[in-house]
Amino acid sequence: MKKTAKKIIDFKKQGKKITALTAYDYSSAKYFDKAGVDIILVGDSLAQVALGYGSTTEVSLEEMLVFTKAVARGAQNALVVADMPFMSYQVSLEQAAQNAGKFIQAGAQAVKIEGASPYIVQVVTHLTQSGIPVMGHLGFTPQYINTIGGHYVSGKNSSATFDILNMARALESAGAFSIVLEMVPQESSKFITQRLNIPTIGIGGGIFCDGQILVSDDILGKYDTFCPKFARQYSSLKDIIFNVARAYCNDVERGTFPSVAESFTLDFDEAQKLENYSQN
Ligand code: KIV
Repeated sequence: MKKTAKKIIDFKKQGKKITALTAYDYSSAKYFDKAGVDIILVGDSLAQVALGYGSTTEVSLEEMLVFTKAVARGAQNALVVADMPFMSYQVSLEQAAQNAGKFIQAGAQAVKIEGASPYIVQVVTHLTQSGIPVMGHLGFTPQYINTIGGHYVSGKNSSATFDILNMARALESAGAFSIVLEMVPQESSKFITQRLNIPTIGIGGGIFCDGQILVSDDILGKYDTFCPKFARQYSSLKDIIFNVARAYCNDVERGTFPSVAESFTLDFDEAQKLENYSQN
């Protein structure tokens, strides 16, 4: 059965840990879904891992929509959340609602937006009141990289932890159904998680979050430009991909691919006619 934003809140009440992964294509979404992943995020991390850009700020709304449609077609049960890209919700409430609506029409059931400035809180209120569930994102927020100045851990002392808690509470009051906590010390995440009714989903947020999310290319070992400390690699897909491509090239170059079984063949008589023709 299709999971809903409300179901994700229920998981917190039931003490069920929430599983989340990013996906960017149909077949990955299909198998993550089959494996029981609760939330599939079409993360704007696809800027780097799927499109080869330097930062999430470079991906466009149109590009995000193509990936969202592919993922939505593969996810039968998981809640599909689409990341609203940089500058797709910052200009005005109208712009935010129009663009969020495009993600819902593309097959997502919710959107994720970063930050909790007074304006962002207004955006969350506007979207949720328009019938669009919103996931918040606090701690390290990649879309703000140019103002933050680097990949830094957030909430590194008690006062910074209170700041994140206050932002999280503002998002919760505005109607957000969950909040990603990125690169936050585990003690701080615990403190925040215990004080919210909506679930926290950690990425580098430690064990006490209500759920965990990772970039799928990191856990698959597919993206080799950078792998963060908090990502656990379960495979080395990049080596598998390399070895498969190398073996294929060898077979083609040595003339051992394709075999007869991998080819189409004529009936014997028709093949014989061609053979005789070649001999004349
Ligand atoms: O874009 C992304 O992949 C994210 C993370 C929280 C996984 O926002």
